[in-house]
Amino acid sequence: MDILIVGSGGREYSIALALKKDKEVNKIYLAPGNGATSQIATNIEIKDYDKLADFVIQNKIDLTIVGPEAPLVDGIVDIFREKGLLIFGSSKSASRLEGSKVYMKNFLKKYNIPTASYIETDKITNAEKFIDKLKNPIVIKADGLCGGKGVIIAQNRDEAKKAAQDMLSGESFGDAGKSIIIEEFLDGYELSVFAVCDGENYKILPAVQDHKRLLDGDKGPNTGGMGAYAPTPLIDDNLYEKIKTNIVEPTLEGMKKEGSPYTGVLFIGLMIVKGKPIVLEYNVRFGDPECEVLMPLLKTPASQLFHKAANGSLKNLSLEFYDKFAVAVVVASKNYPYSASAPAEIIIDKSIYKELNDTHISYAGVMREDDKLYANGGRVLLCIGLGANIKEARNKAYLLCGQVHFVGKQFRHDIAYQALVHD
Ligand code: AMP
Ligand code: GLY
Repeated sequence: MDILIVGSGGREYSIALALKKDKEVNKIYLAPGNGATSQIATNIEIKDYDKLADFVIQNKIDLTIVGPEAPLVDGIVDIFREKGLLIFGSSKSASRLEGSKVYMKNFLKKYNIPTASYIETDKITNAEKFIDKLKNPIVIKADGLCGGKGVIIAQNRDEAKKAAQDMLSGESFGDAGKSIIIEEFLDGYELSVFAVCDGENYKILPAVQDHKRLLDGDKGPNTGGMGAYAPTPLIDDNLYEKIKTNIVEPTLEGMKKEGSPYTGVLFIGLMIVKGKPIVLEYNVRFGDPECEVLMPLLKTPASQLFHKAANGSLKNLSLEFYDKFAVAVVVASKNYPYSASAPAEIIIDKSIYKELNDTHISYAGVMREDDKLYANGGRVLLCIGLGANIKEARNKAYLLCGQVHFVGKQFRHDIAYQALVHD
């Protein structure tokens, strides 16, 4: 089978690595890929989705897997399906679950799926009235896609009103903030749960915990995610059952009723409050860095999972994972998440790296020049360790982290701390 992956991050790199191990897979392409994917697959420089579909037809590529949300929200799946191509991802109308927070919250309310109480508004007077009713802190969210920056946790009402005003005026996020959600703050712990769906059936993957804040101890600004581990002990069979019955199944039923049956991977961002799972958000793609810990744990050949989800035959897939744990530590550039950093050459101490079993790197924000690899993105790469328990996996990931060098390198030192406290 020949496969095209759309995207360029660590998530797409990890999917490519999983497919590379798969005997059923022949050629792997990435569009556009990055400076490291070119070493394990073929990078394609085609941005236009119609032209990309034509490339898939010309090269007889059997399956396309879409990594990030932007092409899904733009309707890449509909374009490929119209041309009779097999593609893993959500349709344009189903992608509104991520593309519009107002759509998502109204969907949750309509189908009685637990979520934080909220209002949606495009008027500052309504916003202020609701803010006055809430306790601190207060959560303000822009409706549209803001590259992971559209959520403000305001510490008091004045801050909340200012954030709402800045969004509604277009100052913070342009048109994406012209409509906003204001909601109550939920106090609990977060989990990322993924359901791979084919429109009819679904398979739940092991729950992952991400670390959204930049600094140790969950301090500093929110980021796209600074590290993840799976499976997490913060979930048990009882909680999985509640998530399936109260969230996944009503979501898939609801999407069918809305005329947008869900295909691809549904990422449910949950807050667990006193044992109750509450939906913070849906995403219509794999999480990043969550994908980088799930892919190496996948025992079932990756092509089977993606192919069967894309062609509607998930029902007869037996999905298996290794009886192991994975920890991923994100290594980011100097100014992340505030601004871009100057490109910095990446040097990896290979003498020791070779001795590290069960570790690998997933490359994200990197470019290649004169056969040297440079850090040129916010999140540059991820060091992943696998082990019989979380402690072992974490030690390996951090050992590998020590072998990676570039100017301005920053990473968190406490990934998986909640699981180790649990041990
Ligand atoms: P979202 O993009 O909606 O997942 O929000 C980004 C992050 O903001 C989440 O991962 C949470 O850490 C935090 N967050 C969002 N909504 C809430 C809420 N209602 N209560 C507490 N934290 C929240
Ligand atoms: N790691 C969270 C996300 O991908 O949105």
